[in-house]
Formats: sequence, structure tokens, C-alpha cells
Amino acid sequence: MSTAPTVLPLNTGSSIPLIGLGTSPLTDEEVAPAVVAAVEAGYRHIDTAARYGNERGVGEGVRRSGIPREQLFITTKLDGVFQGDDRAIGGLDESLERLGLDYVDLLLIHWPLPQRGQYVSTWHTFEKLFAAGKARAIGLSNFKPDHVATLVREAEVLPAVNQVQLSPYTPRLAERRANDLHGIVTESWSPIGAGNDLLSAPAIVAIAERIGKTPAQVVLRWHVQQSLVAIPKSANPKRIAQNIAVFDFELTAADLSSIAALDKGPAAGVDSDVSGH
Ligand code: A2P
Repeated sequence: MSTAPTVLPLNTGSSIPLIGLGTSPLTDEEVAPAVVAAVEAGYRHIDTAARYGNERGVGEGVRRSGIPREQLFITTKLDGVFQGDDRAIGGLDESLERLGLDYVDLLLIHWPLPQRGQYVSTWHTFEKLFAAGKARAIGLSNFKPDHVATLVREAEVLPAVNQVQLSPYTPRLAERRANDLHGIVTESWSPIGAGNDLLSAPAIVAIAERIGKTPAQVVLRWHVQQSLVAIPKSANPKRIAQNIAVFDFELTAADLSSIAALDKGPAAGVDSDVSGH
């Protein structure tokens, strides 16, 4: 089983591990042992958010794992209540206090909330946090192509990452093109479908049976083979280990096209022009 995840370069000069542990909706109590299991399985990337209410548990898991802080890549996300007027400074400080850390590796604007019109101003605060070293990289989450275009026009520091809901059912082709145009890494949340029927889709099951991998591994390989960072969530140590063991096999071009046929179209995904917090 692979314990050496591959990584993708970021526009900051650092890099991000292609597989990270997703932590929503785990509680503090649930997430700490999941983080320990993940580190034992070879994960070096953990994804949380102020809104998940589990940053204390993530920090506890990191400490219990015994791994040196600098070997980990930890992401958190700023909740909408901290957008605008430099409120992100206090928002990140609160997250760092809960995590027990003095910096995060990646800080994301959790949702664009375009109706509020504060994401550009929030980005300028993120640029200050980046300059101060409290966020080693800064990025976006749930930004649609027109949100990215608006932000990039005003930005001094380009976003490193845009984390969006992305799976074979919702492959977000337009978002990926827009991100690629600006050198922004695309990261997939709910990469294995968040418990919907993706893992029992006949196209996925057929590939899994043929190559002797699980459906989750086939879908996660689909992400990493296309340079999409994926953050599968599990609290189950066996599944946590399974989900990172995706670097010792490859999908064929025919596999990729049979998975591409699962696309349900943009309307099947969450719409961040109307949703978010
Ligand atoms: P559990 O936490 O019980 O393992 P996503 O990351 O796309 O949001 O999906 C998370 C869901 O997928 C959770 O319900 C999680 O359940 C389940 N899951 C995670 N890993 C696997 C796996 N390897 N096989 C099957 N289901 C999985």
C-alpha cells in the first residue's frame, strides 16, 4: 500500500499533497482519531474549516499523531461572517487558536457570497495574511468562473487553489478551465460523491472489478490522474488507508471516457451564486 502521496506544485513555490483527509461533518471528538489514522496511513494533508466546528479536534489529532508540524499541509476556510473590512484577520486568528497552530498552509474564502460583494475586499486581507506568513498559501472555494475572473482582475497575489464540489457526476469542466487559465490548482470536495450512488455506478464498479481496486479508489484515481487534489472524508481507519492507496495503478483512456459519461451536467451541483455561508 502506498504511503508516499504525490504532490502538486502551487504558485507559491510550495506544493500540496494530491490526497488530503476531508473532515466535514466530523465533530472534534470524531476528527481527532481520524487525523491520527490518516497520518499513520501516510496522509500529510488535512482539510478543515471554521464552519465545520472541528478545528480543535483537528489540532488535537495533529498533536496526538506526533508528526512534526512542518511535515503537514493544513487547510482551513474563512466563514462568511468574517468577509469584508479586514475581519479575516480576526477570523484566521480564531481558527489558529482553535487549531493550536501559528500558521496554516492554505487559507480559503469558503464561499464567494457574490450577493454581498465582499470577496475582493476579503482577498486583499488574505494578501496581508499571506505576506505576514500566517497563511503560507491563499485561495478560494466554490468560486465560479466569473467570480474567479472578477477576483483575478483585482488581485496582487493570485489564488493558489480553488476548492469546488467535484466528482464524476459533477466534473466542473468550466471551473477547471477557468482555474487552469490562471494557474490555480483545482481541489475537489465530496470527491467520491458524499454518500450518493456514485460508488455503485456500473461504470465505476466494472473498472473496480477488472483492476481489483475498490470503487472509491477508482474515483480517487480519476481525480489524481487529472491533477485534481481530492479530500475524501472518512472516519473509518480502513477506508482512510484505502483512500490514499491510489498511486500504484492507472486508469486507461477507455476507463476515463466511460467515467466521463457519468457527467450529470452543471445543474446537478451546488450553485454558489445562491448558496453559501
Ligand atoms: P465513512 O465516513 O463512514 O467512511 P465525500 O468525501 O465524497 O464527501 O464522501 C464521504 C462519504 O463516503 C462518507 O459517507 C464516507 O463514509 C464514505 N466513504 C469514505 N471512504 C469510502 C470508501 N473507501 N468506500 C466507501 N465509502 C467511503
